Amino acid sequence: MGSLKGLILAGGTGSRLRPITHTHAKQLVPVANKPVLFYGIEAIAAAGIDEIGIIIAPETGDAIRAAAGDGSRFGVRLTYILQDRPAGLAHAVLTAEPFLGSSAFVMYLGDNLLQGGITDLVGEFEANSPDALILLTPVADPQNYGVAELADAVEGATPRVVRLVEKPAQPASDLALVGVYMFTAAVHDAARALAPSARGELEITDAIQALVDGGARVEPHIVRGWWKDTGRVEDMLEANRLILDTLPGTVDGEVLDSQLEGRVTIEAGAVVEHSTVRGPVVIGAGSKLSHCYVGPYTAIGENCVLEHSELEHSILLAGASVANLDGRIESSLLGRDVRLSRSGRQPRAYRFVVGDNSDIAIP
Ligand code: TTP
Repeated sequence: MGSLKGLILAGGTGSRLRPITHTHAKQLVPVANKPVLFYGIEAIAAAGIDEIGIIIAPETGDAIRAAAGDGSRFGVRLTYILQDRPAGLAHAVLTAEPFLGSSAFVMYLGDNLLQGGITDLVGEFEANSPDALILLTPVADPQNYGVAELADAVEGATPRVVRLVEKPAQPASDLALVGVYMFTAAVHDAARALAPSARGELEITDAIQALVDGGARVEPHIVRGWWKDTGRVEDMLEANRLILDTLPGTVDGEVLDSQLEGRVTIEAGAVVEHSTVRGPVVIGAGSKLSHCYVGPYTAIGENCVLEHSELEHSILLAGASVANLDGRIESSLLGRDVRLSRSGRQPRAYRFVVGDNSDIAIP
């Protein structure tokens, strides 16, 4: 079977994260100032897998390639695999078949974050040698997920997955599919035999169901710790909150006449003056803040400029600037080089230059 490989899916459309995804790959949106994708690469590397393929889309592939490079900085080798259209997760697997060959592999959705990493999962796969091992987590609203039905656990026996249903009206369990799977090469034949689903995609749930129906051994692995799919803005903010909570806080930048409370990370070359920063917060290299209040769970990217402003529970991408707003910015995601300001000119009217699908709420 050869050694295990990794496959990260970083193609797709990202329609739920527009307008950010009009110009950027959602897998490169930073969580605590690090692209979501990098957490996945690091998790696979930490599990001892050093040969990783990354599925990319024509629109965003170059940016992903430029960001992650050849993988040497993660201690892995990265191979980029172009998927010509977002035709589904099982289509992505088939697209990667020449790279994967006969190897067993872990498939990781490039916009997902897992607190505990995947080392336990990989260890279990190697110890039990099932045909597939799927990650599951209990959720309060299983009707919104792919849900697994397990065979009645016999005392002492390893449980089996018997059925997978996408967004079931009457869920058989509260165990939702998390975006990480382990497969042997048997999945390729299962994927090849699929017909597109109602939404026109080759579904990985159908491929796994085909494995089960063909008598393959598909086992569940229940996740401990949190899991986050960052497909929507509120999930992105929640992931940012969860990761910021794990950072110790270090100050390498310059702090003048300011109050820092809790765990605050200020990267080298950033300047904070006449401000109050209440962690957990990260402020990126080259950013300048003066006369600001920055509240908990905020990640400010590189080279942002903030003056006379208040914000919390937000993500600012590199180069964003905010000045002189009346109220506090909260639960917001500002894209690259976005500028928000109050001009002071009369009449007091709003002036906007706003891209497609932007979402602005003013009380
Ligand atoms: P999704 O979030 O399910 O799909 P999407 O990226 O098209 O987003 P949206 O629903 O908002 O339009 O995809 C999960 C991950 O898999 C994500 O990192 C994108 C990736 N993906 C591929 O690489 N190829 C594909 O064909 C699809 C559907 C997704």
